[in-house]
Amino acid sequence: MNIMNVDYSTKIPNNVNLSEDRQVLKALEGWHPGYIDWWNDMGPDGFQQSLVYLRTAYSVDPRGWAKFDYVKMPDYRWGILLAPQEENRVIPFGEHYGEPAWQEVPGEYRAALRRLIVIQGDTEPASVEQQRHLGKTAPSLYDLRNLFQVNVEEGRHLWAMVYLLQKYFGRDGREEADELLRRRSGDTDSPRMLGAFNEATPDWLSFFMFTYFTDRDGKMQLHSLAQSGFDPLSRTCRFMLTEEAHHMFVGETGISRVVQRTCEAMRAVGISDPADVAKVRALGVVDLPTIQKKLNLHYTLSLDLFGSEVSTNAANSFNSGIKGRFHETQIQDDHRLQNDTYPVLKLVDGQIKRVDEPALTALNMRLRDDYTQDCVKGLLRWNKIISTAGYDFKLTLPNVAFHRQIGEFRDIHATPDGVLIDAATWNKRNHEWLPSTSDGDFIASLMTPVTEIGQFAPWISAPKVGIDNKPGDFEYVKIET
Ligand SMILES: [Fe+2]
Ligand SMILES: [Fe+2]
Repeated sequence: MNIMNVDYSTKIPNNVNLSEDRQVLKALEGWHPGYIDWWNDMGPDGFQQSLVYLRTAYSVDPRGWAKFDYVKMPDYRWGILLAPQEENRVIPFGEHYGEPAWQEVPGEYRAALRRLIVIQGDTEPASVEQQRHLGKTAPSLYDLRNLFQVNVEEGRHLWAMVYLLQKYFGRDGREEADELLRRRSGDTDSPRMLGAFNEATPDWLSFFMFTYFTDRDGKMQLHSLAQSGFDPLSRTCRFMLTEEAHHMFVGETGISRVVQRTCEAMRAVGISDPADVAKVRALGVVDLPTIQKKLNLHYTLSLDLFGSEVSTNAANSFNSGIKGRFHETQIQDDHRLQNDTYPVLKLVDGQIKRVDEPALTALNMRLRDDYTQDCVKGLLRWNKIISTAGYDFKLTLPNVAFHRQIGEFRDIHATPDGVLIDAATWNKRNHEWLPSTSDGDFIASLMTPVTEIGQFAPWISAPKVGIDNKPGDFEYVKIET
């Protein structure tokens, strides 16, 4: 069997030779009905009988891996796809630096590896749950299709993690796989594992912010796991990253199109002050200050996903060779970090200061810094749209001390500029920086669905190009009611 191509003859499409791995195939087939039940209960609300123009992976060759066709979502072929095995791959960091990568789970790291896989796995269905109501208010068929593409692929990412659990972790792996279908985003008794994945995604601006900022946390985590000494995990994550790029594209271009439309609407009536919220809202578009507030919220919730800045867990994961750094193999150092330091932002005597910490314990901070750098690119594009339209307004990333629930700054309050303030001031002013109920109500008032072919809601521009190079009047979803 050619590892590049995916075998569709088994119930579970795969490129891991499942037809000769009966035990794992059986375990996955046993898990399948529960997954479909979960999809029906917690997947997109409505549209399950509609034909959606989706891409499905038929290969893991980066030069051409997907084909597009109309599919009913419940018929999507969720499969197990791993990037090709690199010959003679060695562990690229930590105590085992230079040793051959593991094809089986090393006993001493079993619990730690399982934990990382379960945490990653838990985020995938969580986002589908968070986004399940959005189909009802999609601003176009194009956007509706993108939402569903993201949803089915997050479903596939769950399959990817479940495969690893079932193949490599025996009975407790199977139990964890069942638990992944049991937890629910936002549930009081049995929530998803990470904070940002229990927040609501109430509207399409939140969806774009989520796919830009929170999927990008996913990208950073997957990159770190793609370096793992445990080769099946590395290969799994490498292929997931191929799909993940589209999710962040949806976020980046989604926000671009909202900003674009707002600027056009302001110009058309000669509004000179983009901060004149009432005037801009009267045009039926989202004002830039509210976009900034949404950005503040989603960026900070995503920062929390990186965990504490200083963490012995992170150091242990690195030392043991199970989770590396972003672009580990391209970094010029000894890849062991025993004697290195890294500057960490900390609260010292009531001030935010950079303090050198052992590089090993500062790995979360380092990954978060890489993340922030990656986030900046989108802001540059959005600000370009604003300045080209002739407006003096800049979207910015808030200071890392602002609105944090995890790490160094969780017990203090700060403005987006990083000025420390007391609780009373925070309570009085936080609605200036984070979406208030009335901001949410305003955005909700714009969320009326548009389902005519080639049409877009008045608060968002049409995309520059279609998916799979389709023309503007392409019917991305054939809605069946
Ligand atoms: Fe994912
Ligand atoms: Fe994603």
